[in-house]
Amino acid sequence: MYEEIKKSDPQLYKAVKGEVLRQQNNLELIASENYASRAVLEALGSVLTNKYAEGYPGKRYYGGCEYVDLAEKLAIDRAKKLFGAEHANVQPHSGTQANITAYLSLINPGDTVLGLNLSHGGHLSHGHPLNFSGRYFKIVTMNVHKDTELLDYDEAAKVIEKERPKLIMAGASNYSRIWDWKRLKKMADDWKAFLVTDIAHYAGLIAAGVYPSPVEYADVVTTTTHKTLRGPRGGLILSRAPYARAIDRTNFPGNQGGPLMHAIAGKAVCFREALAPSFRDYQKQVIKNARKLARELQARGYRIVAGGTDCHLMSVDLRAKNVTGKEAEIALDKAGITVNKNTIPYDPQPPMVTSGIRVGTPAVTTRGMKEREMTLIAGLMDEAIKHKGDDKILKSIAEKVRGLCSGFPIYPGFEK
Ligand SMILES: Cc1ncc(COP(=O)(O)O)c(C=O)c1O
Repeated sequence: MYEEIKKSDPQLYKAVKGEVLRQQNNLELIASENYASRAVLEALGSVLTNKYAEGYPGKRYYGGCEYVDLAEKLAIDRAKKLFGAEHANVQPHSGTQANITAYLSLINPGDTVLGLNLSHGGHLSHGHPLNFSGRYFKIVTMNVHKDTELLDYDEAAKVIEKERPKLIMAGASNYSRIWDWKRLKKMADDWKAFLVTDIAHYAGLIAAGVYPSPVEYADVVTTTTHKTLRGPRGGLILSRAPYARAIDRTNFPGNQGGPLMHAIAGKAVCFREALAPSFRDYQKQVIKNARKLARELQARGYRIVAGGTDCHLMSVDLRAKNVTGKEAEIALDKAGITVNKNTIPYDPQPPMVTSGIRVGTPAVTTRGMKEREMTLIAGLMDEAIKHKGDDKILKSIAEKVRGLCSGFPIYPGFEK
């Protein structure tokens, strides 16, 4: 595999080959990662990358767009069908760009936005001071409750009444329980705010019908296509019909130039795969695996934020083990288990240290792992965290991880 790169660019080949082996030999527990199918990879590596196609199908600024039009129309139609949406824009290059388009289609710089506190699971593009969202809008936050670690809708309602945000941005990078989309819509309507839901993390689960969909409530829905949805790296915007024109014009020419037609082709492939019945089985298993992993970690003395999970991820509080998120991330990495450190709600540690790790099951489920493997993984994680200072033991755990992974090949043949 990758023969051309191997011949022409040995330095880069080292990176690509190394990544193939890393993905095969390690346990990928980063909640936002997954393994795209070979068909998605093929679309991404296709000649569609060569084509400029500013505009939209049938209304381009360039000639020769008949085939990319076909690809984009397939992606749009499939996205609408998959999520039951009135309108889909498949051009955002990423989740963040989808969010820029969503904000700028509905409100103006300087307006107030309500988003989930970043240290309670919100995303950078929901109001981080260094992100465009935090720079261009006045951000006010909703929080999770200190005791239950569940979203505090009552407190959010008070913030809305006081601050009168023009837009509510609902959604998270790290919230394991169910969002009450209907309630948020009512809260938004009460104060004439727009409701945007960013389902980047839950999109695959929602597409499969195993997590509640916000599509019937939200004015605009944004997502990435590369997390639970298991497609190419990219973004997608769904909306009600009346917002279609504003969304399309804000995304292009407002926010982006030429669309990445190879990525759009990859999205079309991904949406077709997600419409298949087997995708529902996959997503059910993702949740079963996450719940099993949470229970197994709890049985080993780890506290799971909000008491467990209803989706593909969980936040693990490491304080009872006297380990920080940073230390755990490093130790697990040495043991071949990839996670990311993450703040837990009301975390006493700074964001670069943290008291927790975020753990997700989409990737390991794609490679065929089930509940039995979740028990093994919890044991390996516990062993690595317990021996965080002992490189020899961590190396021996990495061997065990490699052995486990060898039974679950991801892209057979790629390593050759
Ligand atoms: C909730 C949420 N929204 C948006 C994004 C941004 O996606 P991207 O990295 O494609 O810009 C992420 C990525 O982690 C996310 O978790």
